[in-house]
Amino acid sequence: MFSKNIQNLKTSPVRELMPYSKKAKEAGVGIIHLNIGQPDLETPKEFFQAIENFEEKTIAYSDSSGQKELIEAIKKYYKNMDINYKNDEILITAGGSEALLFTLMTLFNEGEEVLIPEPYYANYNSFFAMLGIKVVGIPTSFEKNFKLPSKDIIENLITEKTKAIMFSNPGNPTGAVYSREELTMLNEISKEKNLFMISDEVYREFIYDGKDTVSCGTFEDNLERIIIIDSISKRFSTCGARVGTILNKNKEFMGYILKLCQSRLAISTLDMIGAEALYRCLGSSYYDAVNKKYMERRDFLFEGLKKIDGVILNKPEGAFYCIVELPVNDAADFSKWLLGEFSYEGETVMLAPAKGFYQNEELGMNKVRISYALELDRLEKAIEIIELGLKKYKSR
Ligand SMILES: Cc1ncc(COP(=O)(O)O)c(C=O)c1O
Repeated sequence: MFSKNIQNLKTSPVRELMPYSKKAKEAGVGIIHLNIGQPDLETPKEFFQAIENFEEKTIAYSDSSGQKELIEAIKKYYKNMDINYKNDEILITAGGSEALLFTLMTLFNEGEEVLIPEPYYANYNSFFAMLGIKVVGIPTSFEKNFKLPSKDIIENLITEKTKAIMFSNPGNPTGAVYSREELTMLNEISKEKNLFMISDEVYREFIYDGKDTVSCGTFEDNLERIIIIDSISKRFSTCGARVGTILNKNKEFMGYILKLCQSRLAISTLDMIGAEALYRCLGSSYYDAVNKKYMERRDFLFEGLKKIDGVILNKPEGAFYCIVELPVNDAADFSKWLLGEFSYEGETVMLAPAKGFYQNEELGMNKVRISYALELDRLEKAIEIIELGLKKYKSR
């Protein structure tokens, strides 16, 4: 009765933990959420002020392509990075999620293939499944901190059905940041094999220790194939204001995206007004301050987890996630046990089992993804709970 594609939708990696977290809550146990990629920092006041200053008597539909002032502000934000897009090369979407969905809808016929380094952001799977896109995983290894394999390994995965290479940089769920050389290699493959390159850069500012990377918007020789996906969600701690962006210089591609934008009329006028103020008012000093906070949390988490017997992790280079190997056979089972059977001082933690981020689930069996978008005292308690939990779990 329902469509084949919709029935193929995978559940998110944390979905299977929901009944267990419900049980913990009902038992009065507090849950520290290490499973959610939602920044806890305050949304900058400029967002709310702009909305307070809104003087129209009616909230009308905005332009389908996005509000002009917002597009101007985003153009300037990119110009500050020496990346030049014109107004009609920028379209505003309901979050990065809609930008991704529209991009994939525009590029792919059912059965065509996307090349993607795994593990990757699990929500991509929903889009792939609903559009009947076949995923071909580019293998990366935990031991090498998810570095891309060599060019010939990637090229060997290309078939006549391959349409695009897609990735997020900095990476969710890996916290890895691709080097300039790795991205240049992907750009070469894209040009030589005539593949689109979907570069999801929603974590762009969250790069630590001065790691040398670039936005794919700097590859000026290939901007008709490069599609940049962007969003204010993480950049300005505004996940609930749904404002994303697609940037590309292929007129035909952008024409189709615009048609899709027109078909859903417009996105929230007020969200765009807030977003425009953020882009207009905030700059490097804001990003630096936020970055410092996340780096502090990353260091705290890394040092704390590293000390636990049998726990292995790489130092994340960006975003606010890391993949952590645990001394257990089945990290999903351990995660359920933590919620259902364990608490310390009235609290437990919720992890995201990593197998859901892999095509080849075996590779993620003994791993979890941890998000460190939390205050230090919360992280401290979470580390303690994981350590005590592991001891008890193993001695059952
Ligand atoms: C890699 C990546 N891309 C895109 C998104 C979509 O974010 P939004 O739709 O809130 O812009 C997320 C959200 O977590 C993400 O992690």
